[in-house]
Amino acid sequence: MKRIKILQLINSEKVLDDVLIKGWIRTKRDSKNFSFIEINDGSCLKNMQVVVDENLPSYADLKKVTTGSAIAVSGDLVPSKGSGQKWEVLAKSIEIISLAPDTYPLQKKRHSDEFLRSIAHLRPRTNKYGSIFRIRSELSWAVHNYFRERGFRYIHTPIITGSDCEGAGELFRVTTLTPPFPTTPDEKIDFSTDFFGAESNLTVSGQLSAEMFALSLGDVYTFGPTFRAENSNTSRHVAEFWMIEPEMAFCDLIENMDLGEDLIKFLITFVLDNCSQDIDLFARFVDKQLISTLKNIVSSEFERIPYKKAVDILLRSNKSFTYPISHGLDLQSEHERYLAEQFFKKPIVIYDYPKTIKPFYMRMNEDDETVAAMDILVPRIGELIGGSQREERLDVLENRMDLLGLPKESYWWYLDSRRYGSVPHSGFGMGFERLLMLITGVTNIRDVVPFPRTPGNIDF
Ligand code: 4AD
Ligand code: MG
Repeated sequence: MKRIKILQLINSEKVLDDVLIKGWIRTKRDSKNFSFIEINDGSCLKNMQVVVDENLPSYADLKKVTTGSAIAVSGDLVPSKGSGQKWEVLAKSIEIISLAPDTYPLQKKRHSDEFLRSIAHLRPRTNKYGSIFRIRSELSWAVHNYFRERGFRYIHTPIITGSDCEGAGELFRVTTLTPPFPTTPDEKIDFSTDFFGAESNLTVSGQLSAEMFALSLGDVYTFGPTFRAENSNTSRHVAEFWMIEPEMAFCDLIENMDLGEDLIKFLITFVLDNCSQDIDLFARFVDKQLISTLKNIVSSEFERIPYKKAVDILLRSNKSFTYPISHGLDLQSEHERYLAEQFFKKPIVIYDYPKTIKPFYMRMNEDDETVAAMDILVPRIGELIGGSQREERLDVLENRMDLLGLPKESYWWYLDSRRYGSVPHSGFGMGFERLLMLITGVTNIRDVVPFPRTPGNIDF
């Protein structure tokens, strides 16, 4: 007999004879003449209730099974006599695949997120984390579908690179050298003997590579892991996260904003329509306002304001922020959240940031002070998307790199793209984990990553 998944049985239209299910025991309850077992196989949030008659030959074995044990059950799918489920399985035979001792940490009670983080290898067996990771999977498919349906090509940009796209120096070094490191005459590490013959690191963004492909294939995107050695222990930062980065040729800042807004709305709508059972869990137990917040985002037109106006609003707000704000300073998450959550009460796009707080590749505006950047901020998260129109003018770009002291010779290939057939182009990066936080209402980024990497944590 072939194993059938619980998801399929739950959605069955009719009774079924002789089905075989396999899964892990969530609870077991004995009553007169019967035992009731709740089995979960991870295919969906719902368990399947199995009813075991005491006259079944394997009933004696069943006495031993505990929460967390794995079993196989064959029997008939029949309408449930109990309330709470449409179907149940009337067992004909039961096989114990493996017994879990009573040290199994996930007993039937609510566990804190902190505790579950310490057993990240087992937490996907809980309702909440099972739902998060099913949504994460569905959402990944939705991202690919979104771009594919719109004629974007999917580019696998490299994970090991020699450049620092964001220029923030938050790099994890990749090396095969072992200490003591060879040094150059001026006492710097001599990378010429290293694996790649040059200093190399894990990528912080696929953008620079994606730009080369946008200027060849038109509309492209990358969706892969990125790494940042930011030593910040916040609820919105991890050292390894996934980023969705579209890059479009012949595209200006406004069209870039339009795509970001449309993508967010599409993905929220997709999850509401396709993951309702899992989302419902978050709406009941994590954030009672979740569905209305999400529907509000889908139906609202995102507010678009220049950086200058955003800072004016913050200065006039009379709020006492932890971090100072004034013209020229970068917005902190508390500022971003005030604007999106309290002032506009919907997502906002902030554009035209001062050049001094943005990377070298952003297109210089005519004022020579601001660049064609745009960030999309959403309630409860702050920055979800960061992007820009790119500087396509070779002379302006070289000038900017000189002022920032960037080594133009290592960017020779990037500069080539401005030399040969350069065109206006734009793109952005969306943090996949932050999107998941927005969609589930989960407030700590560590809880939407299967095995989160943060300063001091590399278990699992
Ligand atoms: O704003 P960022 O740094 O933009 C870039 O890297 C651009 N090169 C993207 C592009 O234009 N192609 O990062 C983009 C997004 C942020 O808005 C945020 O959602 C997320 O990536 N992000 C992080 N998510 C989790 N942990 C971190 N440490 C993150 N740093 C950025
Ligand atoms: Mg940013």
